[in-house]
This record gives sequence, C-alpha cells and structure tokens, in this order.
Amino acid sequence: MADHFKNLLAGNSKWTSFSNNARLNFLFFLSLLLALSFSASGAKWDGVKVTRADSQALHAIKNELVDFKGVLRSWNDTGAGACAGWIGIKCADGEVISIQLPFKGLGGRISDRIGQLQSLRRISLHDNALVGAIPATIGFLPNLRGLYLFNNRLSGSLPPSISNCPLLQTLDVSGNQLAGIIPPNLANSTRLYRLNLSFNSFSGSIPVSLSRSSSLIFLALQYNNLTSSLPDSWSSVSNLKYLTLDHNSLSGKLPTSLTRLVSLEELDLSHNKLEGSIDEIGSLLALKKINFEKNNFDGSIPDSVQKLLNLSVLNLSNNRFRGRIPLIIGNITSLNSLDLSENNLTGEIPSSLSNLPNLTSLDLSYNHLSGAVPSLLSKKFNSTSFAGNIHLCGYGPSSPPCPTPELTPPPQPKPHRRRKLSTKDIILIASGALLFVLLILCFVLLCCLLCKKTKSSKGGRAPPPSTSKAAAATAAEGETGGDGGGKLVHFDGPLVFTANDLLCATAEIMGKSSYGTAYKATLEDENQVAVKRLREKITKPQKEFEVEASNLGKIRHPNILALRAYYLGPKGEKLLVYDYMPNGSLASFLHARGPETTVPWPTRMNIAIGIARGLCYLHSEVNHVHGNLTATNVLLDENTDPKIADVGLSRLMTSAATANVVGTAGSMRYRAPELSKLKNATEKTDVFSLGVIVLELLTGKSPSEAKDGLDLPQWVASIVKEEWTNEVFDVELMRGDASTSSVGDELLNTLKLALHCVDPSPAVRPEAVEVLQKLEEIKAEADVDVGKSE
Ligand SMILES: *[C@@H]1O[C@H](CO)[C@@H](O)[C@H](O)[C@H]1NC(C)=O
Ligand SMILES: *[C@@H]1O[C@H](CO)[C@@H](O)[C@H](O)[C@H]1NC(C)=O
Ligand SMILES: *[C@@H]1O[C@H](CO)[C@@H](O)[C@H](O)[C@H]1NC(C)=O
Ligand SMILES: *[C@@H]1O[C@H](CO)[C@@H](O)[C@H](O)[C@H]1NC(C)=O
Ligand SMILES: *[C@@H]1O[C@H](CO)[C@@H](O)[C@H](O)[C@H]1NC(C)=O
Ligand SMILES: *[C@@H]1O[C@H](CO)[C@@H](O)[C@H](O)[C@H]1NC(C)=O
Ligand SMILES: *[C@@H]1O[C@H](CO)[C@@H](O)[C@H](O)[C@H]1NC(C)=O
Ligand SMILES: *[C@@H]1O[C@H](CO)[C@@H](O)[C@H](O)[C@H]1NC(C)=O
Ligand SMILES: *[C@@H]1O[C@H](CO)[C@@H](O)[C@H](O)[C@H]1NC(C)=O
Ligand SMILES: *[C@@H]1O[C@H](CO)[C@@H](O)[C@H](O)[C@H]1NC(C)=O
Repeated sequence: MADHFKNLLAGNSKWTSFSNNARLNFLFFLSLLLALSFSASGAKWDGVKVTRADSQALHAIKNELVDFKGVLRSWNDTGAGACAGWIGIKCADGEVISIQLPFKGLGGRISDRIGQLQSLRRISLHDNALVGAIPATIGFLPNLRGLYLFNNRLSGSLPPSISNCPLLQTLDVSGNQLAGIIPPNLANSTRLYRLNLSFNSFSGSIPVSLSRSSSLIFLALQYNNLTSSLPDSWSSVSNLKYLTLDHNSLSGKLPTSLTRLVSLEELDLSHNKLEGSIDEIGSLLALKKINFEKNNFDGSIPDSVQKLLNLSVLNLSNNRFRGRIPLIIGNITSLNSLDLSENNLTGEIPSSLSNLPNLTSLDLSYNHLSGAVPSLLSKKFNSTSFAGNIHLCGYGPSSPPCPTPELTPPPQPKPHRRRKLSTKDIILIASGALLFVLLILCFVLLCCLLCKKTKSSKGGRAPPPSTSKAAAATAAEGETGGDGGGKLVHFDGPLVFTANDLLCATAEIMGKSSYGTAYKATLEDENQVAVKRLREKITKPQKEFEVEASNLGKIRHPNILALRAYYLGPKGEKLLVYDYMPNGSLASFLHARGPETTVPWPTRMNIAIGIARGLCYLHSEVNHVHGNLTATNVLLDENTDPKIADVGLSRLMTSAATANVVGTAGSMRYRAPELSKLKNATEKTDVFSLGVIVLELLTGKSPSEAKDGLDLPQWVASIVKEEWTNEVFDVELMRGDASTSSVGDELLNTLKLALHCVDPSPAVRPEAVEVLQKLEEIKAEADVDVGKSE
C-alpha cells in the first residue's frame, strides 16, 4: 500500500523526502492508509502472496487485453506481486477481490479465466475499448456485487448465467453493442438495485421478472430495439425511482400497475409507440420528470396531474392529446418545463400558466389553440413557444394581432406607472433622509430622476401596449432604447427588462473589487439580477468595450455565470448584468457557515468538477484565460452547482488596470508563483488557482487563514511531508464516511491531483482538461464503490 503514498508525492518532487525521526508518525500514517483502503472489505492486509490460481488467472486476463498505453506494466513477476503492486488489483487474504481499470484505453477481450477469481466482488472495466463477448463464466462468481462494463465495444448477447450471481447489486453494460434478448431471469438476485442496459441493441420484450423485482431502484433500458407491450405487473417493484425506456419500439397501453409506483421520480417513455390515455398518471405522486414525447398517446391531459406536486418537467409533445389545456396545470408550482407541442389541443391558453413561478421553458407550438396569449406569457417567452397555432394571436410581431380591442385603453398604463414611480420616489427620498445607513439603496438617485424624466418625455410615443410588450419580448439579443443617451444591449436569457427597469431597480451592495462594485438588483417585476458597476476610469474606450462585451455575451456554459446584458450610460457609466446566484460565493459557502452546517464530500467533489468543467470550456472552447480564479469568484446556484464569475472582465479593462488586479491581495493567495515575474496570466496559472480551490475544498481552510507564514499549498505540503496526512483533510470529512475505502481513496487521489496543480513549475501542472478527466475518474470510481457497500 505504499503505492498510494508514492503516488501522492509523485506529483511534486519537492515533497518526496521523508523526515526520518518520525517513526511513530509514519506508522500512524501507514495505518491510516490501511484503514482507508481495507475497512470496506473488513479484511486486514497481511502481506500474503496472491494464490497461485488467482495469479494464473490474472496473467491470462492480461494476455487477452491489448494494453495500448502500457498501464499494465506493473503486472509482472519482478515486483512484489499481484496483491502488492499491480495496478487496479485489490486483494483480501491473498485473493483478488476487485479489478478496477476504467478509462485505461484497454482493448482486446475479457478472458474467460476471469471466472476463476472466486473472491471477486467487483469488475470495473468501463470506458475502455474492449471488444468481444461478455464471458459467461462471470456467472460463476459467487461474490460478485458490481459489474461495470459500460462504454466499451462489447458485442454478442448478455450471458443468462449472470442471473446466477446471488449477490449482484449493480449491472451496468450500457453503451456497448450487445444484442439479443434480455435474459428472462436477470433480476434473480434479490439485491440487484441498478440495472443499466441502455444504448445497446437489445431486442424482444421487457422480461416480466424485471417488473417484479422488489430490489430495483434504477432500471435503464433506453436506446435499444425493444418491442411489444410493457409488462403488466409492476406492483412489486415498489422501490423503483428511475424508469427510462425511451427510444425503443414499445407499444400498447400504459399498464395500470405502472401508475401505482409511488416512489417513481423519473419516467421516460419517449420515442416509442405507446398509445391510449394517461388518465391515471396522477397517482405517481413522487414524479419529478415525465417525458412521453413522440408516442401515440391520446385522450385529454387529465386534471389529476395537479396532484404531482414535485413535478418539474412535463413533456407530452408529439402525441395525439386533444381537448383543452387544463386550467389546473397552473397549480403545479414546481413546474420548470412544460412541452405540449405538436398535439391536437384546442381552446385558449389558460392564464393560470402565468402563475407558475419557476417556469423557464414553455412550448405550446403546433396545436390548434386559439385566442390571445396571456400577456405575461408572451412577455416571458418568444414566438417559438406559440408558433403553428393559426388561431392564436398577440404573441409577437409576426403573429396575427388580436381582433378584439384591449380591455384597457392604451394610454392608461402610463399614468399608472408614473404614479407608482413617484410614490416610490417619495419613499426613497424620505428614507434616504431618515435612514442613512440602510443596506437597501437605490442605485443612484439620479437614475430615478432620469427615469421620471424619460417616462414623462415618452408621453408622445404611444404604441398599443400589447405590441410594445411583444417588442420587448423579442428584443432579446438586440439593443433597446437609449433613453437619455444610455444604451442597453441584451444577450439571450430568460429575463426581459428595459434600461429604465434596470436603472430603477432597488440595489443592495454585495461586494467591491478593484474592477467595481457588485449589486443584487431587484427589478420591478420582482426578478433579481446581479449587476456589476465597473469603475469607468479603468475600462476600455466604448468601441473596444462593446466588441469585447458582445463576445463575452456569447459565452454560455452551465458552469460559467452568463452575461445577460450590458448598459452604457450617457456619462460613460458601465453596468454588466448577470444571473443572480442565491447561494453566494464558494468562499462564503465554505468559510462563513454556521458550525452545524456541514458540506459533505460529494457536494465538494461536484463543485470541484463543475469548476474544472467551466475552466476547461474557457480554455479549450473559447480560448480564454480567466486570470483571477478564486473561491470568491465562484458562485453557487440553488443546487450548489458552481458558476465561474468575472469571466473575461479583464478584457473590458485597460491593460494597466488588469496587471494591477492580478497583484491584489485577494487573488494573491490563488496566484501562481511565476506571476510575480510575468505579467500575464496563462492557462497554467488558472490551473494553479484551480488547485488552490480544490485544496480549499479538501481542507476546509481558507487560503487567507494560512498558518506560520505558509500559504495553503505550502501548508498542505508541509503536513504531507510530516506524514500527518489525515491532518490535512477537513475534520468534517474524516467523520463517518471516511472509514470506507471509497471515500478515503477519493480524498487521497483528489489531494494528489490538487498538489499536482499547484506545482511550482508551470510545465509540470496538468491542463484543465486533464484535471477534469481525472476528477471524473475519481468520482466514477467512488460511485462504483457506493454500489459495493453492504
Ligand atoms: C514490474 O512491476 C513493478 C511494480 O509491481 C514495477 O515497479 C516495475 O517497474 C515493473 N517492471 C517492469 C520491467 O516493468
Ligand atoms: C431464477 O429464479 C427463478 C424463480 O425464482 C428460477 O426458476 C430460475 O431457475 C432462476 N434462474 C436462475 C438462472 O437461477
Ligand atoms: C445508464 O447508462 C447511461 C449511458 O451510459 C447513462 O447515461 C445513465 O445515466 C445510466 N443510468 C443509470 C440509472 O445508471
Ligand atoms: C433496430 O431494428 C431495426 C430494424 O429491425 C434496425 O434497422 C436497426 O438498426 C436496429 N437498431 C439497432 C440499434 O440495432
Ligand atoms: C416531494 O419532494 C420533497 C422534497 O424532496 C419530499 O420530501 C416529498 O416526499 C416529495 N413528495 C412526494 C409525494 O414524494
Ligand atoms: C387532429 O385533429 C384533426 C381533426 O380535428 C385530425 O384530422 C387529425 O388527424 C388529428 N391529428 C392527430 C395527430 O391526431
Ligand atoms: C389552484 O390554485 C388556485 C389559486 O392558487 C386555488 O384558488 C385553487 O383552489 C387551486 N385548486 C386546487 C384544486 O387546488
Ligand atoms: C422555485 O425554484 C426555487 C429555486 O430552485 C425553489 O427554491 C422553489 O422552491 C421553487 N418553487 C416551487 C414552488 O417549487
Ligand atoms: C421534450 O422532449 C423532446 C425529446 O425528448 C425534447 O426535444 C424537447 O426539448 C423536450 N422538451 C422540453 C421542454 O424539455
Ligand atoms: C426563442 O428563445 C429560444 C431560447 O430561449 C431560442 O432558442 C429561439 O431561437 C428563440 N426564437 C426566436 C424566434 O427568437
């Protein structure tokens, strides 16, 4: 097991020397590693050599693999033996218990001799280039818990013998070229909880036994060639949460028993040939996602859908649903995405749909809907959502105007808004005078005065309100009115607002940086955005600024905070508008929480992977160096998924200002050592910053609270050097979970990677894409391990 330690240090030659007066520490460290690595199997490492039978089997396995990258070099007879030094092999009492070689570029076949490794619990060879059949001898492994062969090029059929493995928990052979029928008794193991046969060419019907397994939680059969109707008896798979059967050729009706699965959270039957009504869907109370797209379902959309209080995605597009859209859909407040396109729906669009607070995606196109689109909906969604309904009107410049006159005469809204505005003015002025230190302050009083002025000057311009709203809705990615000399440029995004809306928003200061001040701004319609006011003196001249800003407005990635608009004021004021992130920055999330809030490792890992993804996109897709990546510049959305902020900000600034910022104290702790000489940030300095953030996630320590004059990388290095590795990790992570080998391995491997990223020499540091791959690999391994614990 010294292998781990060696690997851990291999990332940086600086840390390879041992302090030799630390015998006690060393023993402690070793026992930590052993505890981390073996407690799950409950077996102690006793140095026993691998048994002869296992050794022969492993040699045979190696012979049939094609080792393109030479990863199996350690599988030789000159070293310490299979149980001590062979990569990917774990043993207990001299017998092989796991083979774990994912993402290793392995080709060739899996040898039949694998069936000889009688103690084998886990086979993990996913994401390689293996060909040939899955050996039937795997069915003779009495201890097998997990078989992970996904994303290879395996062919032939799935050997029925696999149903003999009594302890099998996870079987994932997705993403191969397997064909033939699904063995009827596959679910014979009463412990099988994850079965993934998706993305293959299986044919025939879904075996009845699968719909009767009481242990199944995940059943994924999508993207195959399965035919005939669904099994009739689903009542006993009562634990099933995820059922994905999409992209097959299944036919017939939805069995009643399927609609009794009260644990089911996700149901995807899209792209099949299913028919009949979905009247009983309302009994699937836990459902979060329904996708029935592209089937032949008919009848009406039942009122009972309103019972699905956790539903966030409802996709019924491309079926034969008729009748009206039920009013009651407006009561499913959790709905995010509603797609009813390409059906035969008639009647008006219920205005209750505008009550859905979280609806971000709506598609009602290509039905036979009629009447006027509720104005709130036409403001929020563009014409794509309503097209192809010839009797529908009032949703955009290209749609027919509504024949009936508006109930409210056009000029009325204006005095109303003006009255509202002046009340607000009074309140603001009064509170400004009375409560000097209020957190909530109007952006600039001047702005509001400006609003008032432009509102009144707008009096002469009077397009009917419906079209002006529609115009606002379709102005996305365009410029809107330069009232008073200002100019607002929108990029694509869900929110619609005008320059005046923005200037009159109430704003709360979130933070200041060398580039400017960030505010949380609440628009009149209660939507929130983050606004960054840049310091005018250090921004580039307007022309260059606009060119750079529109490039930044095109950057779209789930882990990068999207720039939604910018505003140029008449006096050179510059505002950038971003999505508002309710969970604040990673720095405050990690370091400013109460003692009772813990951040578990999977959350931290997810954050690390997200940041790596965003950075990878920046480096490889848009050719951008961030230059100021810090935990303060990583924001977290409502799911604590990270979004990298301040992307490209330096491009909007004069180069002198940029050089200055790289040297400021806040970012100093994340700064690669070579930046003290060089002026320009590079991809490798970004990777260094990423490494510091990962260390921050591992240790729970802020780089600014470094000890004994050491910065975080140096501190971690010093502790590792003293062989007190367990001291490095956040104590929170060492409770409970860490006693399982999977979490322990994960922490050690992540630490090793982070140390690699903060190597003083830029040439040694990995690329962002390599960091991402490695993190995903570490996580995949851990996910695989989860299935193993008993
Ligand atoms: C044999 O494997 C050991 C580790 O088990 C490794 O240190 C050694 O370099 C390998 N020898 C060769 C010739 O590859
Ligand atoms: C699976 O279980 C069924 C009934 O429980 C039994 O008849 C069948 O022989 C078993 N199949 C295998 C391969 O063990
Ligand atoms: C099944 O495999 C597919 C493809 O590998 C993957 O996308 C999906 O997440 C897996 N589903 C489950 C439940 O494991
Ligand atoms: C499914 O079957 C059809 C015809 O039976 C065939 O054309 C198609 O290639 C098959 N798809 C796969 C993924 O095997
Ligand atoms: C809806 O979601 C909440 C939170 O995840 C959960 O507590 C509740 O049990 C769910 N409701 C149903 C009916 O499953
Ligand atoms: C929709 O309804 C029309 C008549 O109302 C019918 O001709 C058409 O076939 C229906 N379309 C579908 C897909 O059912
Ligand atoms: C649906 O919501 C409306 C308003 O929110 C409420 O008045 C009504 O009672 C709800 N209907 C049902 C059936 O819950
Ligand atoms: C809407 O989304 C927010 C953020 O995801 C969530 O906190 C809120 O509970 C959701 N509202 C409803 C009614 O589900
Ligand atoms: C509905 O499903 C189809 C395909 O499965 C997809 O193309 C479409 O985007 C989905 N609609 C929504 C709103 O997610
Ligand atoms: C409507 O908005 C969606 C995304 O919100 C976009 O993909 C689509 O191109 C827009 N369509 C039009 C006609 O503007």
